[in-house]
Amino acid sequence: MKNHLTRRGFMRAAVAGSAALTWLGARRATLAFGAEAAKPALLGGKPVHQGGWARWPQWRESWEPKVLDVLRSGRWYRASGQQVSEFEKAYAQLLGAKSCLATASGTTALMVSLHVMDVDAGDEVIVSPYTFIATYNSVLNSRALPVFADTDPATMTIDPASIPSRITDRTRAILPVHIFGMPCDMDAINAIAREHKLGVVEDACQAWLGEYKGRKCGTLGDLGCFSFQESKHIPSGEGGAITSMSEKLIDKANSFHNCGRACGTNQGNGSFTRGNNYRMTHVQAAILLQQFDKLVKETEVRQANADYLGAHLGEIPGITPVRLPPESRAVWHLYPFRYDASQFSGLSRNQFARAMSEEGIPCGGVYSEQYYDGLLDEAIASRGYKRLWSAERLKAYRDSFKELKGNKQVCQTTVAMTQNMLLGPRSDMDHILEAIRKIHAHSAALVKAMG
Ligand SMILES: Cc1ncc(COP(=O)(O)O)c(C=O)c1O
Repeated sequence: MKNHLTRRGFMRAAVAGSAALTWLGARRATLAFGAEAAKPALLGGKPVHQGGWARWPQWRESWEPKVLDVLRSGRWYRASGQQVSEFEKAYAQLLGAKSCLATASGTTALMVSLHVMDVDAGDEVIVSPYTFIATYNSVLNSRALPVFADTDPATMTIDPASIPSRITDRTRAILPVHIFGMPCDMDAINAIAREHKLGVVEDACQAWLGEYKGRKCGTLGDLGCFSFQESKHIPSGEGGAITSMSEKLIDKANSFHNCGRACGTNQGNGSFTRGNNYRMTHVQAAILLQQFDKLVKETEVRQANADYLGAHLGEIPGITPVRLPPESRAVWHLYPFRYDASQFSGLSRNQFARAMSEEGIPCGGVYSEQYYDGLLDEAIASRGYKRLWSAERLKAYRDSFKELKGNKQVCQTTVAMTQNMLLGPRSDMDHILEAIRKIHAHSAALVKAMG
C-alpha cells in the first residue's frame, strides 16, 4: 500500500507541471530510497518480517506435575485410571456435545465412526476430496469406496450441490471435512442425508471450536471426529476424539474402540460385538486436559487476526480470501487464500511462495489431487475390491475423478499459512499484507529474475 501511494503521489506531481518539479527534485532522494526498501527480498530488498513466528507445539512447565503424577501412578491404561474419562466429560462440555469418546488418533476416530454408522465392505461413502489423506484411508479401512463430491472453490469445502448425483444404492454415509477449521455448509448436507437416510460423520480433525449456526463442529452430524496430533491446536503428540449428540452412538463407538467390550446402552453376552483397540492413554489425556483455556484464548487470537487478513487480502488483485457459510466461525488450522498468477504477471504459485518465504513469511500450496497419487488405484486393483464391485463400476469410479473441476482449481490455486502465524500481534498481519502487496507490485521483475 505504501509503495502504491508513493507512486500515485509521484504521478500527481508529474501532471501538475513544472511548478511541481522543485518539489519533485527535493523528494527524489527519498523516493529512490523508498523504492530500494520496497524491493522484494528475493531481488535484494529488506525482508518485511524478521521476527520469526510462534513455535509449535508449545509446552508449559506448569503442566508437568499432573503428567508426572500419571507416569508415577503406573495407571496408564484406560481402565485403570480416570484422566481419559475426565477429558471426555470436559471436551463434550466444551463443545456442547452430549457425549465424547477419546481415541488413539483422528484416523482411528474416523474408522470407529464409520463402523458405528454401519459402513461395511462394499459400501460407498461420499467424501470431501480436499483433505488430509487420512480421510480417504478411513473409508478404505472399512473396505468401502470413498466417492468424491466436488469442492466449492469459494468455500474450499464440499459443495453440497455435487452430493446427490453421487449417491447410489450402496451409499451409507457422507463424510464432510471442515478443512483448515472452516465449517462445511452442514444444513444442506444434513438435509441430503435425511432425504437419502445416510449417516453423517464430520471430519472435524482440524476444527476444534469451529462454529456453524451457534453450534460447534463435531455436534452437527451423527458423529464428529477430532485429532490431537502434534501440529493441532490442542495437541498431545497423538490422540483423537469422537463427539455426538447421541449417547447411544458413543456407547457403540466405545465398545468398538475397546475390543468389543460392553458399554452403557451397548450390552450383550460374552464377545457379543466386534472391536479393536483404539484407546487413548492417561498421559495423553493429562496433557489435553490442561490445554482447554489455552485453546479457547488462542482461537480468539487466530480468529481476530484472520478477520483482519480477510478484510484486506481481497484488496490485492489476484488474491481471493475464502468465503465461509453464513453464521459460521472458522478456527483456521491453516489460513488459506486463492492465488491468481495471471494478476501477478504470470508469477507461478511456487515462485510466489518462494518470494514470500524470502520476506520471512512461509506459505505454499497444501493438498494436491491425491486421488491420482496411487492409493485408490492400488485399492481398486486389489482382490478384495474386485470381489466387491463390478469392473464397470470401478472403471466409472476411476473415470469420475476428472469431474472434480472445483477441487482441481482449489488444489492448483490455494496458498496457505500455518496456524501459529496467526498467533502474533497485528503488526505481523500487516507484514503478511505488505509482503503480498510488494510481490504484486514487483511481480514482473520477479518473473524475470526467477526465469
Ligand atoms: C482433516 C484430517 N482428517 C484426519 C486426520 C487424521 O488425524 P490423525 O493424524 O490424528 O490420525 C487429520 C490429521 O492431520 C486431518 O487433518
